[in-house]
Amino acid sequence: MPFKRLILASELLSVLLVLPAYALTPVSGRNGMVASSEPLASQAGVEILQAGGNAVDAAVAVGFALAVTFPRAGNLGGGGFMLIRMNNGQPIVVDYREQAPAASTRDMFQDGRGKLVPHASTIGARAVGTPGTVMGLAMAEEKYGRLGLARVMAPAIRLARDGFTVSDSFAESIRSERSLLEKFDGTRRIFLRSGRLYQPGDVFRQPDLARTLANIAKHGPQAFYSGAPAKAIVATMQKYNGLITHDDLEQYQAKLRAPLLGHFRGFDILSAPPPSAGGTLLIEMLNILDPLDLSAPNSYPSIHLLAEAMRRAYADRATYLGDADFSKVPVAGLTSPRYAAKLREEILAAPPDAPIRAGDPQSFESNATTHFSVVDAEGNAVANTYTLNGWFGCGVTVEGAGFLLNNEMDDFTTKPGSPNLFGLVQGEANAIAPRKRPLSSMTPTIVLSDGKVRLVLGSPGGSTITNTVLQVLLNVLVYKMDVLQAVASPRFHDQWSPDLLSLEREGFSSDTIKMLQKAGYPVNFRDNMGDCEVIEIDSQSGWRFGASDPRGDGKAVGY
Ligand code: GLY
Repeated sequence: MPFKRLILASELLSVLLVLPAYALTPVSGRNGMVASSEPLASQAGVEILQAGGNAVDAAVAVGFALAVTFPRAGNLGGGGFMLIRMNNGQPIVVDYREQAPAASTRDMFQDGRGKLVPHASTIGARAVGTPGTVMGLAMAEEKYGRLGLARVMAPAIRLARDGFTVSDSFAESIRSERSLLEKFDGTRRIFLRSGRLYQPGDVFRQPDLARTLANIAKHGPQAFYSGAPAKAIVATMQKYNGLITHDDLEQYQAKLRAPLLGHFRGFDILSAPPPSAGGTLLIEMLNILDPLDLSAPNSYPSIHLLAEAMRRAYADRATYLGDADFSKVPVAGLTSPRYAAKLREEILAAPPDAPIRAGDPQSFESNATTHFSVVDAEGNAVANTYTLNGWFGCGVTVEGAGFLLNNEMDDFTTKPGSPNLFGLVQGEANAIAPRKRPLSSMTPTIVLSDGKVRLVLGSPGGSTITNTVLQVLLNVLVYKMDVLQAVASPRFHDQWSPDLLSLEREGFSSDTIKMLQKAGYPVNFRDNMGDCEVIEIDSQSGWRFGASDPRGDGKAVGY
C-alpha cells in the first residue's frame, strides 16, 4: 500500500520548505513564560509572576484579562477547563464548563414537528448555559494560587477601566461579527458605539465590566452568582426569553477532577476528562499511533495514519462521549492500549477507500475559544482553555454588567443526526438534560518527561481542537521541531462525520494532496486551523521556550 512506501523527494522538499516560512525562534525565558492569544493578557500574566505569583496566579490573571482584551472568546460569561500541574507532582483539572439551566429540555431547539429552529442554539439568550468561568478561576486561585483574587484581578480591572488601544485584529473581529453584535442593545452599545466601528488606535474602555470585575475581586465569586451580576443576568434572560434563573446561578459549582493520564513513547500525557472529549480522544489517538512509523511530518504516510486515527476517535466521540456525571462514558476502554491495538490493526489491514462526498465547508469555519499556557520559575504549569463557544458567544451582553454570554447549549446534541456549529454529529450520551454539561473538545494538555513538565499546550478551534493539539504534540515529541516550528507547521483535520479530510490551504505539497485524493480521501481545504499556545521546558537547561501560533495575533512573553 502507498502509505508504506517511501515519501517522494518533492514531498520531503515541501515539508522542509514550509517549516521555516514563519519560523524565527521561540521566545525564551529563564524563569517564567506565558503564551496566550492576546499580548496584553500575556503581559498581565508575567506582571503577576514577577510580583511573586505562581503559575496559577498568573493563569487566573490571564483568564480575567482576556475577558477584557479578547472579548470574542475570553470571558466571564462562558466556561472551560484548567489543567494544573503543581511541582509537587499533583495534577488536577478544574472543570468550569457551563451547565444546562434547570428548565432545559431535550428537544428545546426543535419545533413542534421535530425540525431544528434555525440559530436557536447559537444566537440569543436561550443558547446560554449557566456560566462557569468566574467560579472556576476563583476556585483555582483559592486552592492553588498564592496572591489572592484581588491582586490577580488587578490587571484586568485596570485594562477594563482605563481602556486599551484597539489593535487591527480587535477592530477586525468586531467588524466581521457586526451582524451578530448589532442584534442586542447592550452589545451594540459597547462594541459598536451605536453604529461607529472601532478603528485601530482608538481606546476601548469598558466601565460596566470594570465594575463587575471589581465587585468579584472584592467579594469573591458569590458576588457574581448571587449579587448584582446575577440580578443583571436574570434580568437579561427575562428580556430575551432565556432560561437561566437565580437558582441555576446559585447552585453552580466548578468541579475538581482527576486529569486523564496516557503514555506515549516514554512521555506521560495529562489532559482533560469528560465533559470534555479532548483528553479521551487525544490519548486514544496517541495510543493508536505510538508504535507506528510516522515518517516525515505532513507527508502522505503520516497524514494517512493520523487521519485514520482521527476518524476512529471522532466516531467514538459521536457515539460514547458526554457528561460522565449523567451517564456512563467508557473512558477506560477508549484510552486502553489494547483497544488502540485493535483499531491500529484495522487501519493497517484496511487502507482508505472512502467514497468522496460533497462536504459542508461551513461547518469548519470558526476558530472560536481561546487557550493560554503558563509556566513559572518553580516548575508549576497551567494549561487553560475556555470559551464562549462561537466568537462573541450568543451575542447577548448582560446589561449593566458589561460581559457577553456563551452559546454553549449548541455543544449538546440538539437533534440526533444534525450537525452543530462545528459540523459535529453527536449522540444520545450528549443529549440535553437539566444541569448537565455539554460535551466539549477542549484539550488543555501537559506532557511530562521523567516526572517533569516538558510541554504545556492547547488550542481553540471547536471540533478541530484535539487534532491541533495532537499534531503540535507530535511535531515536538516525534519530529523534534522547536515550539515555534511546531505551531507554525500546516495542519489537517478529520472528524469522521462529515466524511472530509480538511487541509489548511497553505503548506501541503501538490504531490501529497494528489496521493491523498488517489487513496480515496475526500480532501477539502480551509483557512487557518487553531491558535495553539505552547510552552516547552528544556530538561537540561531549564529554559522555558514559548510560542504563540502565527495564525493568531497572540504573544509568548517570558522573563
Ligand atoms: N465550545 C467548543 C468546545 O467546547 O468544544
